Amino acid sequence: MNIPTTHTPLFLRHASQLVTLKGSSNAPLTGAEMEQLHIIEDGSVWIEGGRIQHVGTDEELAALYKERMAEAEVIDASGSLVTPGLVDPHTHLVHAGSRENEFEKRLQGATYMEIMAAGGGIHSTTRATREASHDQLLKESRRRLDAFLLQGVTTVEAKSGYGLEWEHEKKQLEVAQELHRTHMIDIVSTFMGAHAVPADYKERPDEFVDLVMNEMIPEVARLGLAEFNDVFCERGVFTPEQSRRILEAGKKHGLAPKIHADEIEPYAGAELAAEVGAVSADHLLRASEEGIKAMANAGTVAVLLPGTAFFLMADSADARAMIDAGVPVALSTDCNPGSSPTVSLPLIMNLGCLKMGMTPAEALTATTINAAHAIRRGHEVGSLEKGKKADLVLYDVSDYRSLQYAYGVNHARTVIKAGHVIVRDGVRVG
Ligand code: NIG
Ligand code: FE
Repeated sequence: MNIPTTHTPLFLRHASQLVTLKGSSNAPLTGAEMEQLHIIEDGSVWIEGGRIQHVGTDEELAALYKERMAEAEVIDASGSLVTPGLVDPHTHLVHAGSRENEFEKRLQGATYMEIMAAGGGIHSTTRATREASHDQLLKESRRRLDAFLLQGVTTVEAKSGYGLEWEHEKKQLEVAQELHRTHMIDIVSTFMGAHAVPADYKERPDEFVDLVMNEMIPEVARLGLAEFNDVFCERGVFTPEQSRRILEAGKKHGLAPKIHADEIEPYAGAELAAEVGAVSADHLLRASEEGIKAMANAGTVAVLLPGTAFFLMADSADARAMIDAGVPVALSTDCNPGSSPTVSLPLIMNLGCLKMGMTPAEALTATTINAAHAIRRGHEVGSLEKGKKADLVLYDVSDYRSLQYAYGVNHARTVIKAGHVIVRDGVRVG
């Protein structure tokens, strides 16, 4: 949202831990760097014009701004942990309906792919999304964004992919664009026309691939509706070869590639991500060792989604092996009605530690600066540094490890977006 900048500076003081992630704006953190949070004790931040002006100890900032203290609105953060606003780099935010019926079927033994092959799954949400009006989609998605915000999330990536025909793909992307303009959370849009082969193309999938490449992608680019292009590369959905064609077509039109890779079966998706220069490869539950190596060499961010593995009752991706191999790792909710109906990024941090061998510090890096780099926003958000957008969260705990430790609890108390207090003491005020 283009938030009007106020002239009153904001002076946040005395955080018991101010997690800055300093020095990480140019590239995502890898290996041992993911542990380095650069915490300032008794930390303070001076915010002006929606941007961070200074970060340091309270002693330093109090001396520096002595003359201007009276102008500022002071936020007392004593006893509180403060982090950068959290970033969710992979969601299917804009959709209609829900799939409790399939959840129950899966509990009785049906698999996710069986349900999809029988015309449910993504196809079922596609039917609901096609039927929904722009305004209905806007209302449902706005509600989800409000819930994200209350938990400290200030930037969200959102994919299309439940239209699977131009009119409805466009509708989803326009809803995302309107949310970006009108909601406090910043939205980064991804076109995912290749999320599934629609029912009427079942017997001629290559014709649908051509339609995505030759008609939809050029329109997305011409209308400026997205900056990324994503594909579900999976046996029974799009082959690696079809995925490559779609991602290359996007590149020609200035859309940066992303890929849903190796989610259900090993399918050389990680390898493909590295080869096409994808900004991120996401899921990777079944990524091969070679694929992980290739991603490390190419600097592809692994966006891991342990909530999806949890909800599909599958083994999680091996975050530990990826971090140790030098792959920059980010975490995300994958918020969608089929495989991860959640808006809780903090819960995803808990799962990152409990199910994927991440340390609490790595999980926090993965939901801040590395998540920002996964959507090319590392220069703007994800760390607390001079010049960056003033997106910050204050929590009711004083140690960052409490976030990954106490699960299913919302610790966020105050959320600041672009220098404005949007949530105060757990209540939405802006
Ligand atoms: O990231 N795997 C493909 N797409 C989504 C799920 C979409 C759905 O089931 O509606 C995912 O898990
Ligand atoms: Fe997804």
